[in-house]
Amino acid sequence: MCGIVGYLGNQEAAEILVDGLKKLEYRGYDSAGIAVYDGENSKILRSVGKLSELAKLVDTNQPVGVVGIGHTRWATHGKPCLDNAHPHSDCTGKFVVVHNGIIENYLHLREELIEEGHKFISETDTEVLAHLLEKFYDGDLVKAVQKTVATIKGAYAFLAFTEHEPDRLVAVREDSPLVVGLGEGEQFIASDIPAILKHTNRVYILNDGEMVDLSRDAVKLMTVKGEPVKREILTVDWNPEMAEKSGFEHFMLKEIHEQPEALRRFLTGRLNEKGVHLEELNFTVEELRKYSKIFVVACGTAYHSGLVGKYVIEQLVRIPVEVDIASEFRYRSPLIDKSTLVIVVSQSGETADTLAALREAQGRGARVVAFTNVVGSTIAREADQVLYLRVGPEIAVASTKAYTAMLMAFYIFALYLGQIRETLGSEDLAKAVSAIKEIPAQIEKIIVNNEEPIKQFAERFTQFEDAFFIGRGVDYAVAMEGSLKLKEISYIHAEAYAAGELKHGTLALIIEGTPVIALATQKSIYEKVLSNIQEVRAREAWVTAVALEGDEEIKKSADHVLYIPDTLELFTSILAIISLQLLAYYASKLRGCDVDQPRNLAKSVTVE
Ligand code: G6P
Repeated sequence: MCGIVGYLGNQEAAEILVDGLKKLEYRGYDSAGIAVYDGENSKILRSVGKLSELAKLVDTNQPVGVVGIGHTRWATHGKPCLDNAHPHSDCTGKFVVVHNGIIENYLHLREELIEEGHKFISETDTEVLAHLLEKFYDGDLVKAVQKTVATIKGAYAFLAFTEHEPDRLVAVREDSPLVVGLGEGEQFIASDIPAILKHTNRVYILNDGEMVDLSRDAVKLMTVKGEPVKREILTVDWNPEMAEKSGFEHFMLKEIHEQPEALRRFLTGRLNEKGVHLEELNFTVEELRKYSKIFVVACGTAYHSGLVGKYVIEQLVRIPVEVDIASEFRYRSPLIDKSTLVIVVSQSGETADTLAALREAQGRGARVVAFTNVVGSTIAREADQVLYLRVGPEIAVASTKAYTAMLMAFYIFALYLGQIRETLGSEDLAKAVSAIKEIPAQIEKIIVNNEEPIKQFAERFTQFEDAFFIGRGVDYAVAMEGSLKLKEISYIHAEAYAAGELKHGTLALIIEGTPVIALATQKSIYEKVLSNIQEVRAREAWVTAVALEGDEEIKKSADHVLYIPDTLELFTSILAIISLQLLAYYASKLRGCDVDQPRNLAKSVTVE
């Protein structure tokens, strides 16, 4: 989704803006632009395609000025082209805006403004904002923004600048994230923390219905009605290097390699000799004992983590768990009440559908616990309880380290519940805790052993347009995530199937050479999976198996075997996915795809 950056200070703005936009690339975009005020005029530079195009324009034009706004656009209203790229300005060119989200009543407003004599250049909803500011301005940008907000409907964030008051930036948030970065004699504003992390780690997070009035030496937070807002400064504990590639060719590869360290960080202080210790959750024992049902609600990869979570919680805690896609959950009048616990899972903490599902659940009386990565995100702030993933910024659109941390969150949350509800004996608990402690090192081993062979045979994937992932139980849930990884970044059509369901349809698609990735890590149903692998082998499929170390039998049925260390059956998912992430990565790279920013996808989906 779109990215917003703004700067007001004493340094050259253009460089800071382009650099900040680069840190927001992960959000997905198709065009970009900046406006820099040089003391007389706002110079607007815009480009279609990658940010390197904008950087070239900046190099050629050398815009000079210490205040500016920037934007990466992910098209919603109007195709990706120069005219539709942000920043947009009014008829006089004296007001410039960048905007994220959707102005729902823009068509009606546009018609009205045209009737009043305003001239529009783009097809965007954003341009109405610039013309409304021009219309309402009477010497105070804050007031003009407030009048604009009172006129528009939708879910958005926007940032405005006017040449009439060049020492001021004004921004407003209604459903799309905005973070203010506090400097000395300079201020920053952006859609997300990585864009400003290089300059400051002291931030204010804006809430819905709030706006900010920035000048070099002051930051005024207020509601859109003008009532002052007091907010604690949040100190972010990410360092700037965490948002860089650190020598890896792509963020995705870096993030795959970061998983052992990220999971160690996740576990720090959360396990002790007695079991799981989750200080940040303040459920009472009575409360945790009363829940009769759990809902897990999320989108994309986070949803897939919930599918694993269902197996783990149901096995360890014996509570029924339903897993729902957030965009479905919110419109199906879900059966929840006070005895239901709802877990929402979201890396970004900003996904519009997940946020709406959270509100829906709370509206129906349920308590909501969020598993999220971003401190201060909307979901983190609105949930009743939060378990942070602590993996640092995840930049690649395809989620890897956040997914494994989500799995870990489900493992330890299930143990925590099992501990309190006494569905787990102390011996089982101790076994599970010691298995969990080994996971980071086991992932290190998988990367060391499997990366090279995967690189080799991923080459063959460049020729295929279809692939199938099969598994049973937890392996089926992992197959779904493995299949999503492959399709989203390599554009190979991939499907995940419950291995036992193959013969009810999918088997018709298996012909000589069809790639099948078979997960066979579940000892209790191993023989069954082996039979299913035989079914595809009999049709001459090309089989790659993911299996437990020591399994020699599988070699007879598979062309390649990717081994993972042995662990408790319920925890194999976190190990099995690593090879599938690497496979997707190398298939994408070898096919020449844009690994970190796949076409049409966005990291953070802040519209419905
Ligand atoms: C987008 C991303 C996915 C992500 C999903 C949910 O579709 O491309 O990688 O899994 O959103 O995001 P969240 O931030 O809520 O986990």
